[in-house]
Amino acid sequence: MILEDDIQYLRRKLGNPEIFQGKTVFITGAAGFLGYYFAQFFARAKVKKLILADIFLLDRPRWIEVLAAQPEIEARNLDITTNEFQNLPGVAEADYIIHMASIASPVYYRKYPIETIKANVLGLLNLLDFYRGKPIQGFLFFSSSEIYGDPDAAHIPTAEDYRGSVACVGPRACYDESKRIGETICQNYAEVHGLPIGVARPFNNYGPGMRLGDKRVPADFAKAVVEGKDIVMLSDGSPTRTFCYVADAMVGYLKVLTHGRYGYFNIGIDRPEITIRDLAAIYAAAGKKVFGYTGQIRFETASDKHYLTDNPNRRCPILDKARRELDYQPEIGVEQGVERFLQFLKEERI
Ligand SMILES: NC(=O)c1ccc[n+]([C@@H]2O[C@H](COP(=O)([O-])OP(=O)(O)OC[C@H]3O[C@@H](n4cnc5c(N)ncnc54)[C@H](O)[C@@H]3O)[C@@H](O)[C@H]2O)c1
Repeated sequence: MILEDDIQYLRRKLGNPEIFQGKTVFITGAAGFLGYYFAQFFARAKVKKLILADIFLLDRPRWIEVLAAQPEIEARNLDITTNEFQNLPGVAEADYIIHMASIASPVYYRKYPIETIKANVLGLLNLLDFYRGKPIQGFLFFSSSEIYGDPDAAHIPTAEDYRGSVACVGPRACYDESKRIGETICQNYAEVHGLPIGVARPFNNYGPGMRLGDKRVPADFAKAVVEGKDIVMLSDGSPTRTFCYVADAMVGYLKVLTHGRYGYFNIGIDRPEITIRDLAAIYAAAGKKVFGYTGQIRFETASDKHYLTDNPNRRCPILDKARRELDYQPEIGVEQGVERFLQFLKEERI
């Protein structure tokens, strides 16, 4: 099974998975794509308590109810922009906190722009004010590679010291700018209150746990393959990205969470940088292998006129810092990862 194999891979790459035994972990935004993987990982990590909080803006996935049947796991409908979380049993004793609340899909964060700003700014401030002075072991804030905006050619691939080329107004600003101020908040709370805050800047993850209706490109392509429909590209297919399979990225996130001090890191994979057109071809080929897929690749114009506004043309990380300081070594190539993703979807349907 793909999920079990991935968890084994993750534990092996992490080196010290037993670090979470007997600990309390509190996750916000836990019902999303990455929440799925964190929840599956911690459900097998002998934690004392796992608190999964989400406002379920997009949906309330079935897997979360399944996991919440385990006695040490609790799933809560909770808006992190209020102080409601402070009354939840176990939250005050949390050893590790993962703040992921904030929709990641551009189509949906544009539908919920104020919620996105509030989750990244108010939600973050609420949590840090609550945990300052408490003996936590790690706090992980999910920033984004979007804090770099659309870098000029000289800054691609992009290292952590690049300051960004970002619009403070426009359709993506609610996300990009709230992640940027979120990082500033983290730096200052770490300095003033001595909190062990790790900041992760994810670069285009994909894989099991993604909602197929999420409207991110890897989800759209997977949906087309699963439904046996044509793969439709809503750009000319020329923008480039590196695509990081979720199990590799998870190793990075857990390393940022547990490294015990303030730091910010690009987390993703640095090669190959491929076009969206290449990615479509990889999905079609893997789809043929896994599902006997026979669909075509087509080009259309998005009905949403802002679909491509401020969409970065290239995105590729430099990972030297994460390699050096965290021994982070992603290795699952995009062909292999896409095939694993589709295989997972096939297993889920059986
Ligand atoms: N997946 C990626 O490739 C990627 C890339 C860059 C950044 N990120 C960041 O990583 C984090 C997780 O990403 P994901 O792909 O799992 O996102 P996702 O959109 O799948 O899930 C985010 C979850 O946050 C919840 N949420 C939003 N506002 C909330 C609030 N006020 N209180 C509680 N829950 C709230 C939503 O209901 C949703 O379930 C996000 O912060 C995202 O910005 C992810």
